[in-house]
Amino acid sequence: MKLFVDTANVEEIYKAAELGVVSGVTTNPSLAAKEGISDPENYKKTVQEIAKVISGPISVEVVSIEAKDMIEEGLKIADWIDNVWVKIPSTLAGFEAIHKLSDQGINTNQTLCFSTNQAILGAQAGSTVVSPFVGRLDDIAQDGMAMVGEIVDIYRMHGIETLVMAASIRHPFHCSEAARIGADISTVPFGIIKKMAEHPLTDKGMELFLNDWFGSKK
Ligand code: G3P
Repeated sequence: MKLFVDTANVEEIYKAAELGVVSGVTTNPSLAAKEGISDPENYKKTVQEIAKVISGPISVEVVSIEAKDMIEEGLKIADWIDNVWVKIPSTLAGFEAIHKLSDQGINTNQTLCFSTNQAILGAQAGSTVVSPFVGRLDDIAQDGMAMVGEIVDIYRMHGIETLVMAASIRHPFHCSEAARIGADISTVPFGIIKKMAEHPLTDKGMELFLNDWFGSKK
């Protein structure tokens, strides 16, 4: 499983790139707005900045609602950087846009996926990757990770090439669970990437090793 960092904060992306543990980036309108980005020009500048340190896929989301407008927006976004995955919502208009954009060789990240049927439709339409939102399903007492597992199983059973990216990740256990069930990618907020590394016994072990080593020098 590969890890992507889920943020539009360039500083966090620099730090994640330095760790050498991420293969891509996902953004969305909310993450962009959180960084003060509120227009396509600023979004473009930020994405081009991110692309200086991340050579893997960078997901950039459309904000249109109709298929025609999504396609027009997606074609513009595709010109921003070479390694873009255009994020398109799992709506009927979105599937039409995914179909038309993928026909033109543009990679798409099918986002806001909350059902296996949406993932089945997106694969037929040509999604490069589908993003089932685990945390938001958990929030309404549905098993988000079980849906990810069902999509993985169905895609594998039918030889579907669309990748599965576990999204809306809320804690480190989501990461290990996504890996266990066979998701291709998990897109993780930077704070959770840091939490993935933390363990009290590692800290305690470090303390003991160093105390023994340096203590023996007295
Ligand atoms: O990539 C999608 C992700 O950013 C959504 O996360 O926590 O807003 O459901 P969340």
